[in-house]
Amino acid sequence: MAEAPDPAALAAVRAHLDAARRVCVLTGAGMSAESGIPTFRDALTGLWSRFDPAQLASEEGFRADPARVWDWYAERRVGVRQAQPHAGHVALAAFGHRRPGVLTLVTQNVDDLHQRAGWPQTIRLHGDILADRWLRPCPRGRACDPARAAAGRPPRCAECGNFVRPGVVWFGEMLPAAALEAADRCAMACDVMLVVGTSGAVWPAAGLASTARRAGAQVAIVNPHESEIDDEAHWVLRGTAAGVLPALLDTLG
Ligand code: APR
Repeated sequence: MAEAPDPAALAAVRAHLDAARRVCVLTGAGMSAESGIPTFRDALTGLWSRFDPAQLASEEGFRADPARVWDWYAERRVGVRQAQPHAGHVALAAFGHRRPGVLTLVTQNVDDLHQRAGWPQTIRLHGDILADRWLRPCPRGRACDPARAAAGRPPRCAECGNFVRPGVVWFGEMLPAAALEAADRCAMACDVMLVVGTSGAVWPAAGLASTARRAGAQVAIVNPHESEIDDEAHWVLRGTAAGVLPALLDTLG
């Protein structure tokens, strides 16, 4: 049975959220765990306990074995499409709609569960697993549509042989600058920073909590286990996303 967060801490965070003019929420893979999408670093079930990220989540790994990487993402895409948003996704989106202009939602996740729960403006730091993009710029300077590439594992441009790759940020790659700037801005401007379901192992996303704290925000973490950024939090709510977020947000009109 998952732990339940301390009622006093829950009430305190709820009060800060109720009074907040700006709330920044950062989510990680734990946000999607109760929708059936595996996290990366949870012992036994995490993807990185079963697969080598260097081989499957890097450009080098893709170039070394494009078909293997393409197949792995194709399998993950099936899981994402089958997954459904849970009560935590719905609670976040509903809170955002009840309080226009208050919520900025930033995710490290490459699934579309926040969007399908009703928050299409989610800021994606690590890309979109359901999107395709070209591996390299077109040598002929064209702007062809990856969706029209010749079928294959992976698909390739019939004219120049360019590979199609998943639209996610791989290890060693830069995050989309606009998304990162927007995330930094919201961390610096918010009254409350809510960090849900991340180990805090990967930067620069992991740095957003300390950015918010240094800028004067109240920082709360929702996670059933300890994370690498717990020390940045004023409040740690030991519980799951689907359990804690509705309890935290649903009574806030
Ligand atoms: N509710 C909330 N948190 C949960 C739940 C849950 N039901 N289940 C697990 N968690 C927590 C775990 O305790 C862990 O702290 O979610 C976190 C998942 O951590 P990671 O697997 O490291 O995922 P994340 O922090 O999102 O990883 C960051 O690393 O591999 C890259 O690009 C990948 O975006 C990912 C980044």
